[in-house]
Amino acid sequence: MKGSKKKNSRRKFIKNSSLAVGSFYIVPRHVLGRGYTAPSDKLNLAAIGAGGKGGSDITNSWNKGKNNVVALCDVDTNLAAGTVKKFPKAKFYKDFRVMLDKMSRRIDAVTISTPDHIHGVAAKMAIDRGMHVYVQKPLTHNIYEARQLTKAARENKVVTQMGNQGASNPEQLQMQKWMAENVIGDVSNVHCWTNRPVWPQGIPVPTEKVPLPDHLSKEDWDLYIGPAEYVDYHPLYHAFKWRGWWNFGTGALGDMGCHIIDPAFKTLKLGYPSEVQCSVSAIFKRDWSPEHIPEGCPPASTVKIRFPKNSRQNNDINLYWYDGGIKPFHPSIIPADHNIGDEDGSNGVMIEGSKGIMSCGTYGINPKVYLNTGEILEVDKTYAKDFKWKGSPEFGHQISWTEACKAGFNSPEHQALTSSFDYSGPLTETVLMGNLAIRSYSLAKMRPSGHRNYYGRKKLLWDGQAMKITNFDEANQFVSRKYRRGWELI
Ligand SMILES: NC(=O)c1ccc[n+]([C@@H]2O[C@H](COP(=O)([O-])OP(=O)(O)OC[C@H]3O[C@@H](n4cnc5c(N)ncnc54)[C@H](O)[C@@H]3O)[C@@H](O)[C@H]2O)c1
Repeated sequence: MKGSKKKNSRRKFIKNSSLAVGSFYIVPRHVLGRGYTAPSDKLNLAAIGAGGKGGSDITNSWNKGKNNVVALCDVDTNLAAGTVKKFPKAKFYKDFRVMLDKMSRRIDAVTISTPDHIHGVAAKMAIDRGMHVYVQKPLTHNIYEARQLTKAARENKVVTQMGNQGASNPEQLQMQKWMAENVIGDVSNVHCWTNRPVWPQGIPVPTEKVPLPDHLSKEDWDLYIGPAEYVDYHPLYHAFKWRGWWNFGTGALGDMGCHIIDPAFKTLKLGYPSEVQCSVSAIFKRDWSPEHIPEGCPPASTVKIRFPKNSRQNNDINLYWYDGGIKPFHPSIIPADHNIGDEDGSNGVMIEGSKGIMSCGTYGINPKVYLNTGEILEVDKTYAKDFKWKGSPEFGHQISWTEACKAGFNSPEHQALTSSFDYSGPLTETVLMGNLAIRSYSLAKMRPSGHRNYYGRKKLLWDGQAMKITNFDEANQFVSRKYRRGWELI
């Protein structure tokens, strides 16, 4: 299957017909009446991962019938059942490789909403076949995959969007405006935090044998594992809880980083970082001997990511990440009874500048500026007056993508997307830099004393262009992963 790159002539037709303003389609629009979408104007969509978030991703992209859902793929028929019922005409597959090959001439665009370990390989295969892709956050499981997808999307001229819907929240426009007007002055530090993990994390690897549920076959489980290292079925790995295991997920940082770091990354025009370091919590069942669980993401961590000065900034910026219930301290210029970030303060962002602090919650909601003078600026209540996707689910994040797919690569609609891979690739790389440091933190050798020597607990220096840690080669193993045989699709 690798290398098969059948391009779809339908996709070209859609693009050309929507560019040819006023010209005839197969059925001219005026013949069909107002509000009717000509069949030739509809995208043929497929979903990889139809349960969980996949259900709303494909439904929102379908856009109440403005597009067709022609195929659905999920390894778990139970989880996919609701979506299958909603789109009875869609062909159902369990193996996305078979679906993308068999239907390569029919599918225009694909939503990918599987666990993180599948994103990269599935998206690469779709992009290579000229299909537009909407990929859930984090874009990929490792940095190498994010770099590959960003490059492949450009080369294959496909329209892309990562599923961090907060990027399309119009409140973020106000944050960009404040930043462009230099309201908070020169920025030195950014603080981002989340209450995740809200699933089991930092726990021992399960050892008991659990039979596959009746509705899952061995072949289904093998497809679930995909490019990851093979492990037997366990309910701690499927569904939802896969987030806490490096084999499948990307921990608390991977889960929320692309939402919460996004407003800072975008407004500060950040690019590749130059350094990363972390500290990570441990659990103790015995005196003086922390549990050693390199397979699992830690229960809590803090990460410091440094960015060199750029076109906006004359100085380096430090971005501090906190998860697992750890939060930054309340700055003195913010009134003590203000919850910063989300309404309950559980997730949030603070961008510290020389003249004040800009804050917001998850998805960029409720942005505020606290000036050193004591003045507080809130979002202009008319901010959404002209918002194109007002009333659309998730700020129109999926619909804007389907409309951009129709308009074509590099169209104004494409350029207006808030998280196409040119942007979200580097954002994801930054998020995953934190995970690279966290995984390096677990590298250990046993000492003769029976205690472990954790030799990867360093400040790591990053060469973004070369995609390489320059001062500790062993950490470079976490830039990519070992792909299971037959799954080296990227
Ligand atoms: N943007 C958001 O607000 C948001 C919210 C939730 C989840 N997510 C993201 O969506 C993705 C899925 O998360 P979830 O919570 O829905 O997980 P989930 O485990 O609940 O659902 C994943 C679905 O993918 C299916 N699947 C697994 N492997 C597959 C494969 N190889 N081929 C086809 N289908 C496969 C599963 O059977 C399941 O139906 C993750 O990347 C997550 O980060 C985003």
